[in-house]
Amino acid sequence: MSATVAYDLLEEQTRALLSGERDFIANAGNFAAFVYHEIPDVNWAGFYVATASGELLLGPFCGRPACTRLPAGRGVCGAAAARRATLVVDDVNAFGDHIVCDPASRSEIVVPVLVAGRMIAVFDCDSPRLARFSEADRAGIERLVAVFSESVQPPERPER
Ligand code: SME
Repeated sequence: MSATVAYDLLEEQTRALLSGERDFIANAGNFAAFVYHEIPDVNWAGFYVATASGELLLGPFCGRPACTRLPAGRGVCGAAAARRATLVVDDVNAFGDHIVCDPASRSEIVVPVLVAGRMIAVFDCDSPRLARFSEADRAGIERLVAVFSESVQPPERPER
């Protein structure tokens, strides 16, 4: 078990961190770094950006270098994007369509990023521990992603 994460405090700090900036790349970089350092037992935290073809394209992240393009609907990220709903996977090796980027990852949470009703990206967080992300973590990370979503302007890049 990880110590309980103080998501109320993290939400306030995220709001402060992102305030005054509306750029997707800048805020996504800081958000990924913040989550990577503040949530215990996370070995990768970052964004995959939605493209016009349906592929997910690697965006700002912290952790080991990762796959640059995830085919439409594939992997944990693609499944969450297709459902437009958070997906928590307790054991990535038991998820048939998991795409391995860092072999150390054992569990994963993916939260769609909705801005003005459009899914512009997903936020992906991996842990080297099995079943790292509890229901409380899911709700907490969704709140942090909501703060991120509110902070950015919808990007104009569907052609990438
Ligand atoms: N495991 C993800 C791919 C991205 S990496 O974890 C950074 C997936 O199955 O979609």
